[in-house]
Amino acid sequence: MNNQSKEEKYGLLEAELRALISRKDALVSSMSNFAAAVQSHFGFLWTGFYLVEGKELVLGPFQGPVACTKIAFDRGVCGKAWSNKKTFVVKDVHQFPDHIACSSDTNSEIVVPLIDKSGEVLAVLDIDSIDFNYFDDTDQKCLEKIIKWFVSEVY
Ligand code: SME
Repeated sequence: MNNQSKEEKYGLLEAELRALISRKDALVSSMSNFAAAVQSHFGFLWTGFYLVEGKELVLGPFQGPVACTKIAFDRGVCGKAWSNKKTFVVKDVHQFPDHIACSSDTNSEIVVPLIDKSGEVLAVLDIDSIDFNYFDDTDQKCLEKIIKWFVSEVY
């Protein structure tokens, strides 16, 4: 198990998600199982969703320590992923201006926006690691692929 590459782990995660998640279920249920599946494969500090509601992001289903409940547009890494409509990979959160520290144990993070067909951001997926420099192009590529499928399946 420990010799698996990141690509292999994401491949297994995607296969599990495709078997688990169905448009017949409520969005909150699918997001909850998504976060739990990521955690069971990778054991990150925190994995969860923030949902766009008006001019802010509100905390959605997650796994990990308690987190801030609201994030304004363009604030923090999550708000920047929303306003820029692109993934943010932050190798050292302590160097990121305006990072919102929900847990002092977080050292790196990736935030992937969920974007609909018309280009609107619906939510963001936020994953936090205790390791510095954990996330790279492979995480970005694999998570963007999974999130693209997830949006097409559940929205
Ligand atoms: N670090 C995020 C806030 C969310 S928590 O980490 C769960 C940010 O700067 O947007």
